[in-house]
This record gives sequence, C-alpha cells and structure tokens, in this order.
Amino acid sequence: MPAIYSRCGKSGVLLPKVSLGFWHNFGDDAPFERSRAITRFAFDHGITHFDFANNYGVPAGSAELTMGRLMDEDFRPYRDELFISTKAGYGMWDGPYGDWGSRKYLISSLDQSLQRMHLEYVDLFYSHRYDPNTPIEETLQALVDIVRSGKALYVGISNWPLEPLKAATQYLRERDVPLLIYQGRLNMLNREPIEQGILDFCREEGIGFIAYSPLAQGLLTDRYLDGIPADSRMAKEHFLKSDRRTPELLEYLHQLEAKAQASNRSIAQEALNWVLDQPGVTSVLVGASSVEQLKNNINTIIS
Ligand SMILES: NC(=O)c1ccc[n+]([C@@H]2O[C@H](COP(=O)([O-])OP(=O)(O)OC[C@H]3O[C@@H](n4cnc5c(N)ncnc54)[C@H](OP(=O)(O)O)[C@@H]3O)[C@@H](O)[C@H]2O)c1
Repeated sequence: MPAIYSRCGKSGVLLPKVSLGFWHNFGDDAPFERSRAITRFAFDHGITHFDFANNYGVPAGSAELTMGRLMDEDFRPYRDELFISTKAGYGMWDGPYGDWGSRKYLISSLDQSLQRMHLEYVDLFYSHRYDPNTPIEETLQALVDIVRSGKALYVGISNWPLEPLKAATQYLRERDVPLLIYQGRLNMLNREPIEQGILDFCREEGIGFIAYSPLAQGLLTDRYLDGIPADSRMAKEHFLKSDRRTPELLEYLHQLEAKAQASNRSIAQEALNWVLDQPGVTSVLVGASSVEQLKNNINTIIS
C-alpha cells in the first residue's frame, strides 16, 4: 500500500496524495450537511489539505464561509492537523482593487479570506494567476510580506507561465521565503504543465506540484458515460460545457474503462493514479459532490 503522504518538494511539509478542493459543491448553492459530510470524511481518511480561493462557491466567497462554519462547529480542535490554502488573482470585488496581482488586492483579499474562514492564518497563500500588467516584484513582495506578517506560513503560485515562475523562484528564494508549491491543471486530457516544462522545473528546483482538476472536472470518470446527469457540473453549462462530451471522448473513456477494469480500478482511480505517477507530482487536488465520489477517488491511493 503506498504511503498516504508525499513530501512537498524540498520542504518540511507533507501533503496527502489526495487533497480536497472547495471550488464547486461547498458554497451557498450546496447543502451544508453534504459539504460537512464530505469534509469530515476527507479528514477522517487522512486528507489533511483543503484548498480554497477567495472566489470559490456561489456566491463568490461562500465556500470560505462554509469553512468558517466548519471551523467553529467541527474543526477548531484540529487546526494544527490541517493544511489550509487560499488564493487571490481572479476577479473578486468591484472596482480596480479586486482583481489580478497588486499588493493592494492580495493583502486585502487574504484579510477577507481569514475573516470568512474564521482563521488567524492560512498555511499556504497563492497568487492565483500571473498578472502581466503589475511589476512581478510587487506581486512577489506582497507574498513575502504576507509570510512575514504571519498571515500565511508558505506561499505558492498557480497558473503562472514558466518564465515568470523562474523569476519568482529566484526572487522568493533570495528573500528566504522559498516557493513551496506550484498549482497547475494536469490530467490525462491536459498535459500542459508537462509539455511546457513546468513540472520538470518544479522537480529540479525542489518545488512541490499539486495537480488541479485531475479528473478533468469529472470528464475522466463514469459520470458522463450514459448522458448528462441533472445534478452534474456539466448540466450547469458554465465551467464544464456539454460540447466536451464528444464521441471521441466517449471512445477514449471506454478504452480507459477497459484498462481500468484490468487493474480492478474505476476510471477515476485510473486517471488519478496516472497523475500521481508523473515524476514531481506531490498531490492530486480533487473535487467531489458526494462522500461516495471521494471514497471512490481515494480507494487504491489512500485506504
Ligand atoms: N488554481 C486554479 O486555477 C484551479 C482551477 C480549478 C480547480 N482548482 C482546485 O482544484 C480543485 C479540484 O478541481 P475540480 O473540481 O475541477 O477537480 P476534479 O477532481 O477534476 O473534478 C471534480 C468533479 O468530478 C466529479 N467527480 C469526482 N469524483 C468522481 C467520481 N469518483 N465519480 C464520478 N464523478 C466524480 C464531480 O462532479 P459533479 O460535481 O458533477 O458530481 C466533481 O465535482 C478545486 O476544488 C480547486 O481547489 C484550482
């Protein structure tokens, strides 16, 4: 049985091989008791890393509010057993200061996230995307100062291209706030971090890599084999459009299903293990709309 935790790059942090993301299914649009059951199931099975961003949930911010309630009602005694991340970088509030990568935005956004989650600090704070119009030093110095202020223990970067990532790695290292982790989309249908050299760079530099949407938002599961379920992400036609369910995808899924069955796995397990097998990957960051899904996902990886 593989170990549950992986070392995050060359750091002291161990992350579970499967981490839980709160982008969908944890906001005001989801039943609180279901969110609670999924979160508790995760923690009870060693999933110690929960990932947020300021804008997760419908309405934006409501996933962090759910976490605040869970902290008060369930998780406060276990704060030191949790590794909680959040991010800022995409549009969060009106006007010129609620988007992209300014110092003004990152610092005030983190303050808001802490208030919503009822936390004094997060374990990890990310720049959610690269901002080509803000001097890179401004964004990075804000990350350094956030760590110095004690509001985050580590910093991460998500969705940055390779060249700015290299510059960030050097800038942060020179200020003794080494980049802990890179968060990028990696799954069997989208291999950009490999093709663009990002995963190799992280591995060489001792930076962890956490793969988001490792199931391609549910495409790499049995969810859409027989149609589009009414309660699925695709049925909402927003982040996952129904035109992704092509004959080619279904053909690919049937082949994957045959391969998975040969190893006694589900399609989702096959897809997650593929990501975890890529050298340099620390953790897969999954979403789930039920305990059953999460249970299925961790089986063969954490059990
Ligand atoms: N940094 C970034 O820019 C960024 C971007 C995207 C995501 N993320 C992070 O990554 C996390 C995960 O993203 P994601 O939700 O797209 O990940 P994902 O794991 O690829 O997709 C999760 C969805 O797949 C379906 N699913 C999961 N397990 C299943 C199973 N065993 N059987 C059938 N269907 C299953 C569910 O869809 P239904 O809801 O339809 O049931 C679930 O909501 C986010 O919560 C967030 O923390 C970060």
